[in-house]
Amino acid sequence: VLTHEDCELLQQTWEKVLGHQEDFGAEALERMFITYPQTKTYFPHFDLHHGSEQIRNHGRKVVNALGEAVKNMDHMSTALSELSNLHAYNLRVDPVNFKLLSQCFQVVLAVHLKDQYTPDVHRAYDKFLSAVGDMLAEKYR
Ligand code: HEM
Repeated sequence: VLTHEDCELLQQTWEKVLGHQEDFGAEALERMFITYPQTKTYFPHFDLHHGSEQIRNHGRKVVNALGEAVKNMDHMSTALSELSNLHAYNLRVDPVNFKLLSQCFQVVLAVHLKDQYTPDVHRAYDKFLSAVGDMLAEKYR
């Protein structure tokens, strides 16, 4: 459960993400494709080479969607309901993959925020990203 303190930490640190959505998103996706190559099977139509325009665009969309969730933390499931339909019904993404992308995004945050990615911030993102993953997978249950 996200506490009030977690929410405040998320909102504060999200300020450091603003302006880097495309870079951070692309880096997270690239880490996911390299570390967990099975995730590439969902993107057969993408150019997955380093610096690919499609990865950059997609990275920006993913991080902006996370930003919307940060903004709407008190009603996240409504904010994410369309994305949940997309991932669950249309794309049929296996829920295990949400954990993999979350893991990669946290590494990106740690690399870029450095000592500002404190254990408390880490915990807040861990809870937040697993809540987002649960919501995107909601329709499977
Ligand atoms: C599309 C967000 C996790 C596979 C999208 C889009 C967004 C998004 C915003 C674009 C929707 C649109 O164009 O209307 C997220 C978020 C995730 C997440 C916030 C979790 C933090 C995943 C995972 C996979 C995945 C784990 C698979 C490994 C896809 C695919 C598309 C897509 C295949 C369609 C890409 C295209 O053809 O343009 N996602 N996603 N997503 N997502 Fe996710």
